[in-house]
Amino acid sequence: MEVDDLVGVPEAYGAQLGEVVVTSEQIRAKVAELGAEITRDYAEKEPLLVGILKGASLFLADLAREIHRPLRFDFMAISSYGSATKTSGVVRILKDLDHEIEGQHVIVVEDIIDSGLTLNYLLRYLRARRPASLEVCTLFSKEGRQRVPIPVRYEGFKIGPEFVVGYGLDFQERFRNLGFLVVLADHPETRAARRS
Ligand code: IMP
Ligand code: MG
Repeated sequence: MEVDDLVGVPEAYGAQLGEVVVTSEQIRAKVAELGAEITRDYAEKEPLLVGILKGASLFLADLAREIHRPLRFDFMAISSYGSATKTSGVVRILKDLDHEIEGQHVIVVEDIIDSGLTLNYLLRYLRARRPASLEVCTLFSKEGRQRVPIPVRYEGFKIGPEFVVGYGLDFQERFRNLGFLVVLADHPETRAARRS
């Protein structure tokens, strides 16, 4: 990891963090790659990026600037029922799209796919609104954890099962402002991953 990533990390965060999983430099390079790919794939189309709040907000902001096409973006906010760490797949929509997506070329922009249950629900919901096309772009994906198959067209990094924070991802709403992805050391998911 570049020393740069640790400069300016709040002291209150520092003690809780484990290894850096993806550096800010690696994120920058990957986001540029994904943007170039989308730019090529949508050469004749105007994509509508749908960001899932709040985790994907940083990713969407950076990704949109790497897509050199006319585009629009919108956001949805959802909350999943169940405990804070385990998704049940039952999702409540807290903020819906501002506009209809019928006939639009939609790209769902997500921060991380774990079980895939949240996205599975969301994709069914969006598909019912008859977009012309519907693709998924996620920056991170936890390897081997998906409980439902998610058709992911654009994927940044496959990562391990530890609980991670940074670059939009939170634990109890904190840590989103770190520019890199880092293990949250003292978290049940991290401890479970360390035991196995
Ligand atoms: P899924 O429905 O199990 O795929 O859960 C996806 C959502 O859970 C993501 O959009 C995140 O908000 C959250 N999530 C899953 N894993 C992590 C993690 O390691 N750190 C922070 N949030 C996570
Ligand atoms: Mg999320």
